[in-house]
Amino acid sequence: MTPGPGRPAVLISRLLPEPAVEMARRGAAIDAYGVDAAMPRDELLARLRGKHGLICVISEAIDQELLDACPDLKVVSNVAVGYNNVDVAACTKRGVVVTNTPDVLTDTTADFAWALLMATARRVVEADRYVREGRFQRWEYMVLLGGDIHGKTLGVVGFGRIGRAVARRAQGFGMRVLYQDAVAADAATERDLHATRTDLATLLRESDFVTLHTPLIPETRHLINVQSLKTMKKSAFLINAARGPVVDEAALVQALREGWIAGAGLDVFEEEPKVHQGLIGLPNVVLAPHIGSGSSETRLKMATLAVENCLAVLGGKTPPTPVNPEVLTRR
Ligand code: 8YV
Repeated sequence: MTPGPGRPAVLISRLLPEPAVEMARRGAAIDAYGVDAAMPRDELLARLRGKHGLICVISEAIDQELLDACPDLKVVSNVAVGYNNVDVAACTKRGVVVTNTPDVLTDTTADFAWALLMATARRVVEADRYVREGRFQRWEYMVLLGGDIHGKTLGVVGFGRIGRAVARRAQGFGMRVLYQDAVAADAATERDLHATRTDLATLLRESDFVTLHTPLIPETRHLINVQSLKTMKKSAFLINAARGPVVDEAALVQALREGWIAGAGLDVFEEEPKVHQGLIGLPNVVLAPHIGSGSSETRLKMATLAVENCLAVLGGKTPPTPVNPEVLTRR
């Protein structure tokens, strides 16, 4: 559909589920990249020129350069809850509304953090490889022994929506929950989740599983570093389904190699899609290609919410999940 008078123009920079794209077409003239890969930067800038809306994922850097090149832009609709790829302050200054996709992915991402936790503790990936390689020749008492999960201590770093959903699942395993967050949860939440707030050092010292659920902000970059890894128990596991740069990957490789901790489950990496070569050869780490929110149902919900956000802004309405709502009151 071509833009007509009063019809906004929107670029969708990534292949998204068709029902969501169809919905977008009903409300705007859509230019869809239609490829499941990051759009080359110069193509992104060229195709975004003259557009009013952008529906994008976190591989797109929404920065000053892009805003300067696309003065007609009114809304950046990120198909993700995290928006560390967006210079929100620059968008706000220009009156560009930024939106994200919280809530719809909370449980799916928490499920996956648990999948990583369990796979890591019980060595599921190593076990699969063992069977496929034909090494299951006889049953062995001492083979592939892992660590228990039930009754252990779970340390949740970042006690927002996803962190709490991870803690909720720990109830079924009779776990003690510690959490670290700048803001304390209310008493009812702490009680329901059997969760106690601690400082990071205490959490690292006492937890059998440390799971990261913080946004990537300057304060959380390399939050897990040499010192924090050395503070963890030698028997502990680190799970990261948040953002790669929260962990100093080189330090983690050293920790896994030298046995400072027992293992790690990683869905995210410091320089995605690059993965630190040191991680590849290690048996005590489970690696996944950033699929925490990757269920068919949730990816459709995320894309649908992103389209709703985008069309609402372009229709002069309040989007369901704005990141910088102050821009809306200025319109
Ligand atoms: C997305 C994510 O799938 O929501 C987030 O912040 O990291 C994932 O759920 C990915 O970022 C796509 O933009």
